Amino acid sequence: MKTIFEPFRIKMTEPLKSTTKEIRIARLEEAHFNVFLLDAEDCMIDLLTDSGTGAMSAQQWAALMLGDESYAGSRSWKRFEETVHDITRMKHIFPTHQGRAAERLLALTWVQAGQLIPNNNHFDTTRANLEFANASAIDLPCEESAKLDDDFPFKGNIHLGKLKRLLEDCHSNIPFAMITVTNNAGGGQPVSMTNIREAKKLLRGYEVPLIIDACRFAENAYFIQRNEEGYRDYSLIDIAREMFSYADAATMSLKKDGLANIGGFFVCRDDAWAEDFRNALILQEGFPTYGGLAGRDLEATAVGLYEALQSEYQEYRHATIEYMLKKLIELDVPVVRPAGGHAVFLDAASFVSHISAKEFPGVALVNALYREGGIRSVELGSLMFGKYDKAGVLIPARRELVRLAFPRRVYTQSHFDYMIEVIASVWENRETLRGLRIVKEAPFLRHFSAWLEEL
Ligand code: F0G
Repeated sequence: MKTIFEPFRIKMTEPLKSTTKEIRIARLEEAHFNVFLLDAEDCMIDLLTDSGTGAMSAQQWAALMLGDESYAGSRSWKRFEETVHDITRMKHIFPTHQGRAAERLLALTWVQAGQLIPNNNHFDTTRANLEFANASAIDLPCEESAKLDDDFPFKGNIHLGKLKRLLEDCHSNIPFAMITVTNNAGGGQPVSMTNIREAKKLLRGYEVPLIIDACRFAENAYFIQRNEEGYRDYSLIDIAREMFSYADAATMSLKKDGLANIGGFFVCRDDAWAEDFRNALILQEGFPTYGGLAGRDLEATAVGLYEALQSEYQEYRHATIEYMLKKLIELDVPVVRPAGGHAVFLDAASFVSHISAKEFPGVALVNALYREGGIRSVELGSLMFGKYDKAGVLIPARRELVRLAFPRRVYTQSHFDYMIEVIASVWENRETLRGLRIVKEAPFLRHFSAWLEEL
């Protein structure tokens, strides 16, 4: 069948407001050309993020009603702990209100100024939390990831050769290494089991722990099942368990593969590490059996984690992403290939090649998609990742990407057809797009709040 079979039917609807191009032009100007500053109801299709934006299942809504809101040792905590333990097999489990809370407490307890933390690609919040602790977040993406149109199936891999050299030179200054599955900043590309296993082998030689940033672990497991030799007959949960078996700890945003609207966790094996984390958690997030979450959230995420590991769900999710990518490739629109886990990434540097990196081509494209069809996407380029040198000159990001992130179980195939039409129209008129300059920015995570102006 050519039509995607969405393995759910819709019990409750949420209206989407249609807007005109004139209204959108005005709204964008009021938002200082930064789509983060738009009102969500002015976005007809919101692809800003796949984080916390998914639709919960009937089972999750039912589980909410079972929430035990006791401060300490609640039933909901027990259920959460059992579930996370069942999947990760880690000894110590701590809920946090979202992923970056786990990252912040990790940076607070286990990172010192001047240390180095390698990763395949740090996501912006991970990087910011490490840099806030005056450590260096080092990206070691694999060779294949440099070619955006290469179809290598595991472009999220960490570069093992570079990791080895870094360990040889500086292992005593590396508190831990990370691997982000899937590799969000690098195009939502998966990491192979072999790569995780080999990275662990290298790290073990220097007694450097491995932390998995597990936000999209179920999507990564699906790619391993489909594309890595020897895993075809494994269940997604068994693949996930093997992935976690190579890690000493993991951070997680349950807003992604927890299929919930809020939540996160930190898990680890080491008792001393757990003790430090627990103390920081109590100080900053909450008692360790709720960690900043309501009992009902713990219930919903416990159900969601298993739902994310269902094959029918992953098959449908990836079919939608592949469907869109295929249509865009047919139209010659420059995209990151192959299809990643949670999003389609447009290559803005090629899309609007007349706009240089210092004029934020990704932002120009994001804004054009909004104006044309009310689609809100996000730039992953020099606005998000660019830095300034000592003279205040912008050091551009490695790439200028635009991410169309897909909320889970939210949009139907006709919404996808609409998105493709809008992108095709912007592609036809790409020469008319203009670059931008920043007029106001914050010292950290500036993309969230910057004001820009069109040139
Ligand atoms: N790590 C990765 C790989 C992420 O993608 C995110 C969030 C986080 C950590 C932080 O988790 O939002 O729960 O605090 N990514 C979202 C996104 C925001 O849009 O990709 P959080």
